[in-house]
Amino acid sequence: MTITFRAVDKPSAELLSNILDIEQEAFGDAALNEYVIVPLMRYGKVYIAVDEDDVPVACAYFMRSMADISVAYLMSVAVLPMFRGQNVGTALLNYALANLKRYGITRVMLTVDPANFNALSVYREKLGFTVVDSVKDEYGPGEDRLVMSKDL
Ligand SMILES: CC(C)(COP(=O)(O)OP(=O)(O)OC[C@H]1O[C@@H](n2cnc3c(N)ncnc32)[C@H](O)[C@@H]1OP(=O)(O)O)[C@@H](O)C(=O)NCCC(=O)NCCS
Repeated sequence: MTITFRAVDKPSAELLSNILDIEQEAFGDAALNEYVIVPLMRYGKVYIAVDEDDVPVACAYFMRSMADISVAYLMSVAVLPMFRGQNVGTALLNYALANLKRYGITRVMLTVDPANFNALSVYREKLGFTVVDSVKDEYGPGEDRLVMSKDL
């Protein structure tokens, strides 16, 4: 199966519906919704991986820092369950990081659940992010996060 990657800046109803499905599959109640995803498409940066029929199988969302315009924050990345473990997430993020450089981004930050071993493997082992901080209760009681960074 050939997977290709691209940035999305104009949401079509069909594309948005597909992306919302990926989010639901990955995060359930904690999924990003259209009121976050559409602004990220228009004012942040959204990347998708699509199959041979141009159907999205993975997506990644970035916002730019207001404090330092050379910094972008990876808000979320998700791959449809049947495509996981096949390098799609890593390849999508590699594509995204290379593309972000064209916008003057020199550092990407993210946070990750310390127990999310698959995501940690992608960020640390495969993409070379390093842990720069550990924040307790970042998203509420018991929602600790590792803060990771990568210079592009
Ligand atoms: C985290 C996630 C984006 C990674 O995408 P992916 O396409 O599975 O990533 P890759 O295939 O490039 O790497 C996955 C790594 O996870 C592990 N893995 C192996 N099989 C796996 C599977 N079936 N599913 C998930 N991870 C698997 C491996 O460590 C693999 O590394 P390896 O290839 O060196 O063995 C994806 O698992 C996902 O969507 N998870 C749910 C949402 C999530 O947690 N997002 C990140 C937090 S915001």
